[in-house]
Amino acid sequence: MRKLAVSAAMTSALIASAVAAKEPASTNADAWQRAEATEQKMTDAERVVMTSGITALPNAGDKIPEDAVLGAGYVAGIPRLGVPALKETDAGLGVSWALGARGNEGATALPSGMALAATWNQELAYQAGQMVGAETRAKGFNVLLAGGVNLVRDPRGGRNFEYFSEDPLLSGILGGYSIAGAQSNHIISTVKHFAFNNQETARKFGNVTISEAAARESELLAFKLAIEIGNPGSVMCSYNRLNGPYTCGSEWLLQKVLKRDWGYKGFVMSDWGAVYEPGFAWAGLDHQSGRSSDPQVYFADQLLTDAGTDAKRKSRISDMNRRILWAVYSNGLDRFPVLPGEKIDKAGHEALAGEVARQGIVLLRNERGALPLAAEAKSIAVIGGFADTGMLSGGGSSQVHGDGGPAAMIPGGGRGLFNGWEQYQRGTTPLAAIRKRAGQDVTVTYRTGNYIAEAVEQARKADVAIVFANQWQSEGRDNPDLSLPRGQDALIAAVAAANPNTVVVLQTGSAVLMPWLDQTAAVLEAWYPGVQGGEAIASVLFGDTNPSGRLPVTFPASLEQLPHPVLPGHTEADPDKNGAGAPGQQVTIDYNVDGSDVGYRWFARQGHKPLFPFGYGLSYTNFATSGLSVKGGKATVTVQNTGGRAGATVAQVYLVARGKVATRRLVGFQRVSLEAGASKTVTMTIDPRLLADWKDGRWSMPRTTYYFAVGENAEALSSPIGIRLPAKRWAD
Ligand code: BGC
Repeated sequence: MRKLAVSAAMTSALIASAVAAKEPASTNADAWQRAEATEQKMTDAERVVMTSGITALPNAGDKIPEDAVLGAGYVAGIPRLGVPALKETDAGLGVSWALGARGNEGATALPSGMALAATWNQELAYQAGQMVGAETRAKGFNVLLAGGVNLVRDPRGGRNFEYFSEDPLLSGILGGYSIAGAQSNHIISTVKHFAFNNQETARKFGNVTISEAAARESELLAFKLAIEIGNPGSVMCSYNRLNGPYTCGSEWLLQKVLKRDWGYKGFVMSDWGAVYEPGFAWAGLDHQSGRSSDPQVYFADQLLTDAGTDAKRKSRISDMNRRILWAVYSNGLDRFPVLPGEKIDKAGHEALAGEVARQGIVLLRNERGALPLAAEAKSIAVIGGFADTGMLSGGGSSQVHGDGGPAAMIPGGGRGLFNGWEQYQRGTTPLAAIRKRAGQDVTVTYRTGNYIAEAVEQARKADVAIVFANQWQSEGRDNPDLSLPRGQDALIAAVAAANPNTVVVLQTGSAVLMPWLDQTAAVLEAWYPGVQGGEAIASVLFGDTNPSGRLPVTFPASLEQLPHPVLPGHTEADPDKNGAGAPGQQVTIDYNVDGSDVGYRWFARQGHKPLFPFGYGLSYTNFATSGLSVKGGKATVTVQNTGGRAGATVAQVYLVARGKVATRRLVGFQRVSLEAGASKTVTMTIDPRLLADWKDGRWSMPRTTYYFAVGENAEALSSPIGIRLPAKRWAD
């Protein structure tokens, strides 16, 4: 296996060529030809073997074959034809099934997807994917159930921490690069959950309603970009309904959009427990995953019975096989089999997790230069957030278990499928990292924050108070609101009232409200920062790292600003263990309210002022951008570091109006690292889909003047420049 060189970061160009070289058109064609040839050699009985899989866990309902690795799934291969079995594990933030599979042996826990997105760094996303892919192999698996690119449509969504952002360009690019990185290990990665699984409430029965135009311009665009860049072997369809049918049985979504319009060659696998009838096969689903989680095994032998002599159905069964085989061959699963004893570069992988954490931490507030901590600060009161224990991680199927298991399991008030333990990653705790970095001259005390009076007393005595505050998110449940649970908002307010030098460090899944914001000196958003999160937080606090993360989601000022002040289904849906709801229960999740104006676009349309806008983040230095020009589909801008120390920022270019109609769309971004005083001119290619509308089955750009602006975030924008563009229409 290729070693990861974290320090010698791959350049964009190198990665772009690695992405392109991995699947040149000719290899793709070869893989398809090989798939056809193998499929032709299959007997009818063999043709249904790979159409279904089991959950490879004890008590899941199926006998576990000898060669299976305990984990999310197992699909038998066809040894006679040299087709390997598929051994599936979750997920994008690390190998989540390692602990169950092999005693106490854990995996490297990356920071959350939101933290990775906050780096706006596609090279790092590639490396993160490559790292998880390498561990996937080393743990005996050849399929990684990663690539969650659903948009963050609501900050309360329980899986936001797994996903990337509210923007299709940012999510599509980062998702695509991380998939490409994973597959560079000769394994299959998925992209998931196709599509519109943006909330957990009523996740197995909620019906998302959205117009085709809004669908294509928002979440489907994120999937399309991720597929173009990452070329995943499989697409996992989701639990929810979409404009009526379940996505896993939606002919429109699977056969028309994905396979016909986009020409996707891989296979569609269901999410676990998302199949309700055999007809899903004829509607475009190629594989029934974890079949005992469905009411029946609808695929496998049943397919032959249902197809009978129907030529169309028989050719669909052939197509399912070709698609699965294409994924196997185009990623070389047969040529590069997973062998026992592949070693993990543990130190390198943990260093990479640390790099993602450092680049993903967002400095939200820094009054009077409160950070980095001054050398004069001789006493620090660390309070709350289990800062003495470990780093919070998100719950559900993506939960990574580090070496030795979780450092602490705290009841998370769960309901739904994965009911309710906050798990803290072992590693250097924030408290230990702060103590180490502060050195012997500085007194560092710690109080849990369980008792406000005690925390206040410590804060009052100290030069600086650092309050750690956490919000847990998990698959299977949404956060009911955007408060910090367990009275942490009150704790912060009380500590900040006692000490004007109060710094808040947040570990949250996505956006939260901050009723105490104005009282504080500084706020850092560290997301779920992974196994090296403690060191990463300390290095930002003390200034060894200049923060460079930028928000991948809007932080609203109130719930009333959201398209749905009450989360759809929140008052009706009381999910059972599987999130399935009562028989016949219906919930409509209406995405026509915001349509394709997700996140910052909604805020711009409504004229709402958020707490912090999309793209926002401070630095210990200052940057200026100038000279925006747009020509021949490319935007060029010069970024200068006008402050006194090295740092990194993200140049963000937005479309702000078409003709007289105001809009707001991110059309290009580039992370730039600069020494103090240095400047750099960067060029970004603008994808025309970001300028267009979906109209009558095509992308459509009106002939008009397009206005662009460059910004520090979606709100602080330069004065716009206009260029006239001709009308254009094209197919997806
Ligand atoms: C999740 C998927 C996951 C699957 C297998 C489901 O509950 O929605 O993301 O890949 O389980 O573990």
